[in-house]
Amino acid sequence: MSVLFDRIGLLYTGDPEREEIEDAALVVEDGQVVWAGAAGEDPGADERVDVDGRCVIPGFVDSHAHLVFGGDRTAEFTARMSGEPYTAGGIRTTVAATRAATGTLLADRTAALVAEMLAQGTTTVEIKSGYGLTVEDERRSLEIARRFTEETTYLGAHVVPPDASSADDYVRTVTGEMLEACAPYARWVDVFCERGAFDADQTREILLAGIKAGLLPRIHANQLGNGPGARIAAEVGAASADHCTHLTDDDVSALSSAGVVATLLPGAEFSTRSPYPDARRLLDAGVTVALATDCNPGSSFTSSMPFCLALAVREMRMTPLEAIRAATYGGARALRRDDVGTLRVGARGDLVILDAPSYVHLAYRPGVPLVAQVWREGRRLV
Ligand code: NIG
Ligand code: FE
Repeated sequence: MSVLFDRIGLLYTGDPEREEIEDAALVVEDGQVVWAGAAGEDPGADERVDVDGRCVIPGFVDSHAHLVFGGDRTAEFTARMSGEPYTAGGIRTTVAATRAATGTLLADRTAALVAEMLAQGTTTVEIKSGYGLTVEDERRSLEIARRFTEETTYLGAHVVPPDASSADDYVRTVTGEMLEACAPYARWVDVFCERGAFDADQTREILLAGIKAGLLPRIHANQLGNGPGARIAAEVGAASADHCTHLTDDDVSALSSAGVVATLLPGAEFSTRSPYPDARRLLDAGVTVALATDCNPGSSFTSSMPFCLALAVREMRMTPLEAIRAATYGGARALRRDDVGTLRVGARGDLVILDAPSYVHLAYRPGVPLVAQVWREGRRLV
């Protein structure tokens, strides 16, 4: 079964070799891109979709989200907007609500967030655990996450839960019994390396234990202040260092030389009213940048990649081209995937038709629902 997307005004392929094609067409067959080029030169297909001069982009790759949780933190957000600071400690409120929730409720809410994401153009999403923080609650979160994506991340090291007898004891559980229960459902291991969460030694120990169990490392680094996270990401060969809001020059060089993707999460700075990371500095140093939502009830309760992209352009000195690249190709690099995030021949037929002539409108017309159609593996879902 093949589909021709015809009369595309602007095709953003995400493929660094041939990133933009004007007056284009694209053919997807059996779920994969088989041809991209000039309109009128296509090889034909079983079905034709008239894109009518609009813009086509790859489906967004949201490489950082915390979607399995109970409750919400409206009160904390309201207090922040009246001047209270954000602290890592709020995570414990969600941990209590998550433990109290039934599996059905958690799965239904995860499904609703994934559907919200899809409606806004996200076709690949990473989902972390991290609000259970007991062996069984973390295992349950990851088992639920796995129903929605292959990109699941074990974040038992989110904070030390209040019922742990000591931080050392909790790290032993995270690297032992909890890891063993969670590894079958996870591809990645992550640590919140931050004051109030886990320090450098604990972070190394947890990531190395995860690697030993067959998981790939990624890390919450340098979100609330300077710290060792970005350098540890480089040291252990993490796919991505996420947040990167407070970086020294040495951190930037370490990320650049180790080829670690910097995943920037501007929804978190928006929602915690904090200074944004400087994407320009990372891009100028040759670091691959990804953009993701960080969707979670505490620091960034948005499921919208278009919103994050608009923030990146307005607040983080990214050009619209750099922002769309970071939200597609960059996200795929952060997940070490080469089958998504681009529309090169051989990639998955995951694409979005925008109600706009260019992806620039995603930043130029913030908050406007510009996602007209969403296709995954050659099938229309929205
Ligand atoms: O990525 N930083 C750690 N985790 C989340 C926040 C979690 C929360 O506040 O519930 C984040 O921002
Ligand atoms: Fe996060």
